[in-house]
Amino acid sequence: MKRDLIDITDLSVEEIDDLISVAEDIIDHPDVYREKCRHKKLATLFYEPSTRTRLSFEAAMYELGGQVLGFSEATSSSAAKGESVADTARTVSCFADIIAMRHPKEGAPLVASMKATVPVINAGDGGHHHPTQTLTDLLTIKREKGRLDDLVIGCCGDLKFGRTVHSLIGAMSRYRNVRFVLISPEELRVPESVRTDLLEKQGIEYRETTSLEEAMPELDILYMTRVQRERFFNEEDYARLKDSYILTPDKLATAKWDLAILHPLPRVNEISVAVDDDPRACYFRQVLCGKFIRMALILMLLEVE
Ligand code: NCD
Repeated sequence: MKRDLIDITDLSVEEIDDLISVAEDIIDHPDVYREKCRHKKLATLFYEPSTRTRLSFEAAMYELGGQVLGFSEATSSSAAKGESVADTARTVSCFADIIAMRHPKEGAPLVASMKATVPVINAGDGGHHHPTQTLTDLLTIKREKGRLDDLVIGCCGDLKFGRTVHSLIGAMSRYRNVRFVLISPEELRVPESVRTDLLEKQGIEYRETTSLEEAMPELDILYMTRVQRERFFNEEDYARLKDSYILTPDKLATAKWDLAILHPLPRVNEISVAVDDDPRACYFRQVLCGKFIRMALILMLLEVE
């Protein structure tokens, strides 16, 4: 039976740990993997803008010796003629061995996975989930901190619409002794469903605050996010909230020396470029992790040895 990746909890903790091990092996021995996906094709169906996610999927497939086809905007696909996601998925299954799909509608990749005859990977669905960003984040945390347990994780910014945070909480809640500090303006708090279904149900310790400065000293990980302009109903609210948090070098004065600063990117204003040279800034190393973990995921879903 084919496997899809729609939600990060589709993978067990053991499977995630295996993916991380394979990604680290790829980093150490890239030559071993160069032909693993020869004659295999990945389709990237992107109905929403993307730089890192789409290009890292494509680079991942090329580095495995495979090939890539797809579209990067809905207007250049038959979606513009009114084709359903289900029909597109069924059609693309005739051409590709695996599909990565990003869509503004929550649940679209799930619908696609039910009609596609090849594995479907959710590359981000609306304000819902983004499991491959989370795999990227986990590989980054593992490499930067050497562990995935015993961590205080601060998530800061747009925790309401930021899908990367929802998936990150879903994944990290399953590791031992992980505690969350959720830093956001009142209007952009983590959705109720994430609080009840992921955090409270699993008995995970967390607190909410509006102050990044107050949270800073206790954090092992600071996960910054962009205010998700495209998910706002009006421009005024966005304008009011967009600069709620701006990480600058002076705000890091009270941070741990071994804090790891992550950001799924793109960044707008929320991290000053002056922070980029701080050794604790991991977000560009995080981008590279995205390619390696996607290589590991493609191998897993295509059942390549
Ligand atoms: C994120 C996304 O698309 O959700 N970007 C990414 O995939 N690296 C975060 C964002 O757009 O803010």
